[in-house]
Amino acid sequence: MAAAEVEVPFHLRGNYAPVAEELTAFDLPVTGAIPRELSGLYLRNGPNPKNGPSAHWFLGDGMVHGVRLENGRAAWYRNRWVRTKPLENPELPFVLEDGSADRTVVVANTNVIGHAGRIFALVENGFPTELTNELGTRGICDFGGKLTSAFTAHPKQCPKTGELHFFGYGFLPPFLTYHVLDRKGELVRSVEIPVPGATMMHDFAITERHVLFMDLPVVFDIEQALSGEGGMPYHWSDEYGARIGVMPRSGGAADVRWYEIAPCYVFHPWNAFETADGRIVLDVARYPELWRRNSSRFDTASAYRFTLDPKTGTVKEERLDERPIEFPRVDDRLGGSRHRYGYTVAAVGGADEGFRGLLKYDFEKGGAVEHDFGPGRATGEGVFVPGGRGEDEGYVLSYVYDEGTNSSVLSILDAQNLAKPPLAEVALPQRVPFGFHGNWIGDE
Ligand SMILES: [Fe+2]
Repeated sequence: MAAAEVEVPFHLRGNYAPVAEELTAFDLPVTGAIPRELSGLYLRNGPNPKNGPSAHWFLGDGMVHGVRLENGRAAWYRNRWVRTKPLENPELPFVLEDGSADRTVVVANTNVIGHAGRIFALVENGFPTELTNELGTRGICDFGGKLTSAFTAHPKQCPKTGELHFFGYGFLPPFLTYHVLDRKGELVRSVEIPVPGATMMHDFAITERHVLFMDLPVVFDIEQALSGEGGMPYHWSDEYGARIGVMPRSGGAADVRWYEIAPCYVFHPWNAFETADGRIVLDVARYPELWRRNSSRFDTASAYRFTLDPKTGTVKEERLDERPIEFPRVDDRLGGSRHRYGYTVAAVGGADEGFRGLLKYDFEKGGAVEHDFGPGRATGEGVFVPGGRGEDEGYVLSYVYDEGTNSSVLSILDAQNLAKPPLAEVALPQRVPFGFHGNWIGDE
């Protein structure tokens, strides 16, 4: 390989590289049979830099890839850039004159969700961007001016109340603010949560009665931010410590109880729930360390269970498996309630093979079922889509890339028979670059 090729950063090579075109295709070819009960949109967001290379994988312009399923057909595929301010004007400053972040200047590249009949593209440093059902961009949404912070890319919808719980973090005080949208999409509650400093808080969790915040030692690095080098302005700290905050859903800042844990980083939990005796279980993909400045150390995440005991104020930390994993998901109908199963992407063919498959952990009995997409293939996040009424009765959808043909399919697995060949694969008119998160937005 020529030296010039080696210097291209990973996020601009292979299937990390952006695609150049926005396509629309109807009645896509299908291998197998799409379950007729699947009626809705499968959407996934990810970085796809439009105006030249991005300094970091996390910083490229958001592009949503969507497939509409109905009556056993793959009715259409569309991929669209989210029409953000930086997409139209890459030189636009993202910091206001007073030094605070301009929350309307965001790349909207991390997740795409449905709530109260609306679709939002999300990135954690700013306001949501609303999309249409056909992936056009309506624009930035600040909920009638009520939103006072950024909006995490990982809000949690409570299946019992229909509320959307979320938070925003920033590099200036208040570093952390918790919010609730009601089932109609109105912003009804905002609580500032005191934390010692500005950390990168990517995700959180809810239980039926509590909200959990993960205040972990990847902290804002002002030197990096001002250096002009680009890149992520957050680095590992040996001093900051690590803690999980538990707040009653109806509580205030004074009601947050903090539990110390061993330093680590967690981008994503599967879910959290309360046990009958009042403990709180939080299942996560945990990194022993992340992003130490000037270090080339590269850790992978593995499955962990934290059990918080309010009687003792301590946390039991258990490593459940050694396999490298990411993008943990559960059956969202159990969000905040006890889950038995957890889905995740995994390096099933060995660490050198990338995320070649999906795992379904059984947290009650232990162990995991594996789906291997095979050599030369790699899957993105697997999203559980309900079929029957019980947990795990449904499907796992993901975009799967094939290196040999440089193409992608939408794969539909039977969650209860995860190891078996896909029920259906929808051939897409172009590859879908590796990206971040997505969701199923079912027809009402
Ligand atoms: Fe994420």
